[in-house]
Amino acid sequence: MNDATEAAAEAAGTEEAEATPIKARKNGLYPALSDELAEVMKSGWADTERRDLAPAEQSAYAAKRRAALSARFPGDRLVIPAGSLKTRANDTEYPFRASSEYVHLTGDQTQDAVLVLEPRGDGGHDATAYLLPRSDRGNGEFWLDGQGELWVGRRHSLAEAEALLGLATRDVRKAADELALAADERPAPTRIVRSYDAGLEAVLAEHTTRHGDEELRVFLSELRLVKDEWEVGQLQAACDATTKGFTDVVRELAQAVASSERWIEGTFYRRARVEGNDIGYGSICAAGPHATTLHWVRNDGEVRPGELLLLDAGVETHTLYTADVTRTLPIDGSFNALQRRIYDAVYDAQEAGIAAVRPGARYRDFHEAAQQVLTERLVEWGLVEGPVERVLELGLQRRWTLHGTGHMLGLDVHDCAQARTEAYVDCELEAGMVLTVEPGLYFQADDLTVPEEYRGIGVRIEDDILVTADGSRNLSAALPRSASEVEAWMAGLTG
Ligand code: GLY
Ligand code: MN
Repeated sequence: MNDATEAAAEAAGTEEAEATPIKARKNGLYPALSDELAEVMKSGWADTERRDLAPAEQSAYAAKRRAALSARFPGDRLVIPAGSLKTRANDTEYPFRASSEYVHLTGDQTQDAVLVLEPRGDGGHDATAYLLPRSDRGNGEFWLDGQGELWVGRRHSLAEAEALLGLATRDVRKAADELALAADERPAPTRIVRSYDAGLEAVLAEHTTRHGDEELRVFLSELRLVKDEWEVGQLQAACDATTKGFTDVVRELAQAVASSERWIEGTFYRRARVEGNDIGYGSICAAGPHATTLHWVRNDGEVRPGELLLLDAGVETHTLYTADVTRTLPIDGSFNALQRRIYDAVYDAQEAGIAAVRPGARYRDFHEAAQQVLTERLVEWGLVEGPVERVLELGLQRRWTLHGTGHMLGLDVHDCAQARTEAYVDCELEAGMVLTVEPGLYFQADDLTVPEEYRGIGVRIEDDILVTADGSRNLSAALPRSASEVEAWMAGLTG
């Protein structure tokens, strides 16, 4: 597929068309167009503006988050870009996914957009979302430009977006000039979330500092540590869709055996695209010894009866909240004795971890509780010499437990990653936090320190846990977890 030629665009060109900096026009195969066609394309289109739009559900929540941001940085100009398309090859791009910071503060997902909080004299801010407006039909942009609506689909008009977001909107093509002018006329310390919009960073370079920008990024990461009720609902929806995806995979395991791990990846992906926006991260579809490779996303291996499938996958909702769930499934429907022994150890560790999640507990507690159980089993099985306390002190169990037992979850699979240690890893849990509890045991295929029958077995069980006022709630509890429940569930689906 190609866009119309640059020559054609120039032929249609008014001054506005030539000045349109939306995106370099692409080369194409069409001959120059006639003046008559250019003229005919300008008119004869119905008015489709919608004037009946009410604010979207999340707009009130986004407004509260902006208020918190405003209160933290009184007097500062704050710039939060959504990011832009990334080239995949030549004139094709990766699917766009707006920055989590921008989405959290606006509820919007428009590419190239930018949120600006302009400081007011009273210490508050005026918030504006700069967005790409609807394509202008008068200058041919809508059908001659690669980002014209005829190519990429209808956008909201600025007025429609304003109604939906509950936020003032302006044309994003004016953002750089308006910010430069504001910096000149109303000097103020300025902060931008870096790495999403190099153009705006350059425009604001004289007014920003690396340290100031970092403080903004850290604050926005920490602002996401406690989820509001709407976000919890989104994460529940992500988990529910993920349950359907895992169910699809179990139903199609016979096809995966006849094909490869890719069948599993594709099966889950179909559900993610139908129920939500996408997968929230690369699905790990690891059969047999691949389960011992923590981020196995190549997914090109064989799926063999008698072995285990470690499936770590999550649906990202249309609002961009993701689940992060792992189940380790016997490919032929039943665990053998050793698989079950290892599975039960991980299950018991996860139970201990989940039991340690409650308000007021330390974030580290669930990790330590899970590591304790796993280490006890490793010592009991004779894989490492005890006592357990010595193994834990030296961290020797980590040869087989490998990773931390969980992380915050939300818009990002590893959410709140820029939060300070004292706000995250060293924090006390609070109601509204959502985190994964995901212990595992992994015996590499070439690990000569364990008996041969252990080698190539990897087990992880991962659930998404909401901290509630008096304990916790497992958002992914709809998926069976214990070995017997898993076997019964699989038999019901495949039997
Ligand atoms: N689900 C992948 C991870 O947590 O790293
Ligand atoms: Mn995880």
